Amino acid sequence: MNTTNSEFFSALSERIPGGVNSPFRAFQAVGGHPPVLVRGRGSRVWDVEGTEYLDFCCAWGPLMLGHSHPELVAAGRQALEDGSVFGASTPWELEFVEAITAAYPSMQKVRLVNSGAEAVASTLRVARGATGKARIVKFEGCYHGHVECLDSVGIEAEELGGPLALGASPGSAAETLIATFNDLASVRTILQAHHQEVAAVIIEPIPGSMAVTRPLPGFLEGLRCLCEEFGVLLIFDEVLSGCRVARGGAQEIFGVQPDLTCLGKALAGGMPVGAYGGRRDLMDHVAPLGKVYQAGTFCGNPLTVRCGTANLKHLAQAGVYQRLAEETDFLTRSLEGLHPNLRFVAYPGMFGLYFAPREITNHHDMEQVDLEFYRGFYHRLLAKGIYLPPSSLDAAGLSLAHSRPDLERFVQAVAEGLS
Ligand SMILES: Cc1ncc(COP(=O)(O)O)c(C=O)c1O
Repeated sequence: MNTTNSEFFSALSERIPGGVNSPFRAFQAVGGHPPVLVRGRGSRVWDVEGTEYLDFCCAWGPLMLGHSHPELVAAGRQALEDGSVFGASTPWELEFVEAITAAYPSMQKVRLVNSGAEAVASTLRVARGATGKARIVKFEGCYHGHVECLDSVGIEAEELGGPLALGASPGSAAETLIATFNDLASVRTILQAHHQEVAAVIIEPIPGSMAVTRPLPGFLEGLRCLCEEFGVLLIFDEVLSGCRVARGGAQEIFGVQPDLTCLGKALAGGMPVGAYGGRRDLMDHVAPLGKVYQAGTFCGNPLTVRCGTANLKHLAQAGVYQRLAEETDFLTRSLEGLHPNLRFVAYPGMFGLYFAPREITNHHDMEQVDLEFYRGFYHRLLAKGIYLPPSSLDAAGLSLAHSRPDLERFVQAVAEGLS
């Protein structure tokens, strides 16, 4: 019988490629075996051996209220009792999309889907359908999920050994043009040459896969202007930043309105979810109103939607993001100076922690990140009961369940983990 993490992980690896249902979860970047988790409550998770960890991975983004929040548990339980899926319209969809559009005024109409990747793929379809153009501009180092034309080229493909991801269609990859984050000139060059073929520019306004990268002052505003100038749509992929950095995401913080937005993760507090939406005239291209087809059996299912509404209601309470901002400020102040190469880049609800001589501004800077140092550091923190994302280049999470003593414990573990 399996009892330890390594026994369970070996057994999982017999039946599931790499033992994981999403490659991020494997410990390839830090080495060793991941703990196999069985329970989460508030800011903590427990593995099959009964070891407790303070969770700063937060399921890679969704858990703004922490694990098993009573309001979400109640909403989910009621949904299971009333019927978890009907494949028909329900009143709860209205409540949920109204909560979304209240937080994201740029989303005049919304479609609910089941994951971030599904939201991104569907948004690209709307952009192409509405403009009649096929090509998409993306930024190197921005992650948009498992969406063929976006993850099959550039560094994501190169990491796996080739200019085109194995199994990807060359035709779909040829639709993608790649710009440099924080570099408006790179976008202008591409649009000058190709704007007649480009449907949209898609960007993570606050990227979470180059650790956490800050958009430089004026970059997002300048991008909005360039899209206007060349007649292409602007898509914000806020699957990660949405409801984390502010209730209304990066677009609320920077005051830049995209034409279309993709959401997911923190929208439904831990239920599988995605949403996309934007200008009414663009969203009216979606079937059955228009001819851009997108459908799904579980889209807008009551279980997700009722938990999602409970989550968004909680996040709409006064002071929620102020508290998160105070906690990330506390971490920033407390970690400063602990190590000359320690970089801590935080927004309310998410942070990047890595070792490099200076802060990352685009994918070129990732070369300077000391991945080897992070490996040892990661395992020293894990041994102290601190569970971070197992990659120094992925965003960590902070939830409302993390208390000040939790954060003090984290700071102390970091200090000890550095020595
Ligand atoms: C910015 C961004 N977009 C899209 C996705 C894909 O979301 P999902 O994993 O729910 O498909 C992710 C996931 O990490 C993401 O961070």
